[in-house]
Amino acid sequence: MTDQLSRRTFAKLAGAAALGASNIPLVAQAQVEAATLPPPSPRSFPTGFLWGTATASYQVEGAVAEDGRLPSIWDTFSHTPGKVAKNATGDVADDHYHRYKGDVQLMKALGVKAYRFSIAWPRVFPNGSGAPNAKGLDFYNRLVDELLANGIQPFATLYHWDLPQALQDRGGGWESRETAEAFGKYAGYVAQHLTDRVKHIFTINEFGAFMELGYNIGVHAPGLKLPPKRFYQARHNGVLGHGLAVQAIRASGKPGTKVGLAENLVVGVPVIENAEHIAAAEKATRDINAQYLTVIMEGKYTDAYIARMGANAPRVTADDLKIISSPLDFVGTNIYQPTFVRADAGPSGYAVVPNPPSYPHMISPWLFMGPEVLYWGPHHVAKLWNVKEIYITENGTSSSDVPAADGKVYDTDRIMYLRNYLSQLQRAVADGVPVKGYFLWSLMDNFEWADGYENRFGLHYVDYATQRRTPKLSAAFYREVIARNAVA
Ligand code: NOJ
Repeated sequence: MTDQLSRRTFAKLAGAAALGASNIPLVAQAQVEAATLPPPSPRSFPTGFLWGTATASYQVEGAVAEDGRLPSIWDTFSHTPGKVAKNATGDVADDHYHRYKGDVQLMKALGVKAYRFSIAWPRVFPNGSGAPNAKGLDFYNRLVDELLANGIQPFATLYHWDLPQALQDRGGGWESRETAEAFGKYAGYVAQHLTDRVKHIFTINEFGAFMELGYNIGVHAPGLKLPPKRFYQARHNGVLGHGLAVQAIRASGKPGTKVGLAENLVVGVPVIENAEHIAAAEKATRDINAQYLTVIMEGKYTDAYIARMGANAPRVTADDLKIISSPLDFVGTNIYQPTFVRADAGPSGYAVVPNPPSYPHMISPWLFMGPEVLYWGPHHVAKLWNVKEIYITENGTSSSDVPAADGKVYDTDRIMYLRNYLSQLQRAVADGVPVKGYFLWSLMDNFEWADGYENRFGLHYVDYATQRRTPKLSAAFYREVIARNAVA
C-alpha cells in the first residue's frame, strides 16, 4: 500500500517537474511517505570480506636499472619507437620503488585490508635463471614489512608480464620450455624467502592478455605474431610454467602458504537470465577458456580445443597435464567486461552475441559496461570447477580524469561503474558464491601498457611531472564501501 501511494506521488511529482511546476506541499507529502518506507537494504558483504587494491611491478615501480635489475621484454618493447602511445616507457612510472612507504599510507587511508602487487622477475633473477640477485628481492622484503607494519596483508603475483629479456633472447621466451622451467625455479626461490610473511601467491597474471597480445597479435611485448603451431606451443609452455611454479611453491613455501593464479577468463554472461541461456553461458565459459583456466582446472584440453588446433597442436605429455593441473588453493579472476552468450541449436550449444555499435563502454574502447559479469564470473568458476575460494583479483575502470578548477578529480563515471559492479558482486556473495575478497585496479594511475600514460585507472591521480598523488572522488567512495562493508 505504502509502495503504491509513494509511486502515485512520485508520478505526480514527475509530472509536475515535467511542466516546470514547483509544488512545495506535494514535495512535503512525498517526504512524509518516504519516511514510512523501510530503510534501503544494506547490501552488505560477509564479515571479514577482504577489500584490497592492486598494482603491478612494471606499471608502477620505475627504477629499471637499479640494484641489479636487468631489462625485461617490456623495457625493450616500450623503448622501440611506435609500440606504446607517445613512446612512453616504465623507466620512472610512479617511482614506487622509492615512494612505496608513501603509497602504503595511501592504502592505509583507504582502509584496505590487502594489497596485490607483483614481483619483477628481472630484479630477482636478472638473467631469468642462474644466480639470484639478493638486492632485487630486498625491495619486496621492505615492501612486505611496510605493509604488515600497517596492517595490510600482502598478496604477491610472480608474473605480471615483465619477462627477463635474457629468456626471450635465449629461447624465444614462452616459446621455449626453458622459460617454464626457469619460472618454476624463480617461484620456488621467492616462496622460500617471502612466505614467512606472504601467505597468498599468484603464479601468473592474465594468460588471456600477455600470451594473446604479446605472442599472437603482437601489440604487447615481445610484439610477436607467431604462426599457429609455435603459438599453441607457447600457450602450452605458459600453463606448464604455472604448474611448475605451483609445485615449487608447495615444495619451498612455509606451511600455510596458499597458491593460485589471476586469470582474465572470458566470462559468458547469459543474454537473458533463464535456464537455457544460463546453461549456454556456462558452456561457453568452459569452452572459450580451454587453453588456460579449463586445462588448469581439469587436467586436459577439451575435445573442441584439440579439434580447433588440428595439426598445429603442441607436444603434450600426460606428465605435463598432471603438472599443469596441480591443485590450487584459490582462483583469482580479473574481471572487467562481459561476453554475452545465448543458447544455440548448433553443436556447441551456445553462440557469442557481439555487442551492437551502440553498446556503452568506458573511456577505454574495450571496456564495455556490464556489471552482471561480476555476478556470473565467480558463479561459473564455483560451479564449473567446484572452487571454494575465489578472489576478484582485478576490477576497475579507466576514466578521462581531468582535474577540475579546484584541483580535484570528480570521477563520477568510475563511481557509477564501481557501484554497479559491486552490486552484482554483492548479489553473488549473498547467493553463497565463495568470493573472499576484491582487489580494485588500481591504487593509482600507472603505465597502462601499450596505452602508456594515456588511460588512467587509479583511485589516486598521479601528476607524473611531480609524482604527486591526489585521491579522486572514487577513493572516497571506496573508503566508504570498505568502512561499511557494503555497497555505498
Ligand atoms: C589487466 C592487467 O592485469 C593490468 O595490468 C591492466 O592495467 C588492467 N587490466 C587494465 O587494463
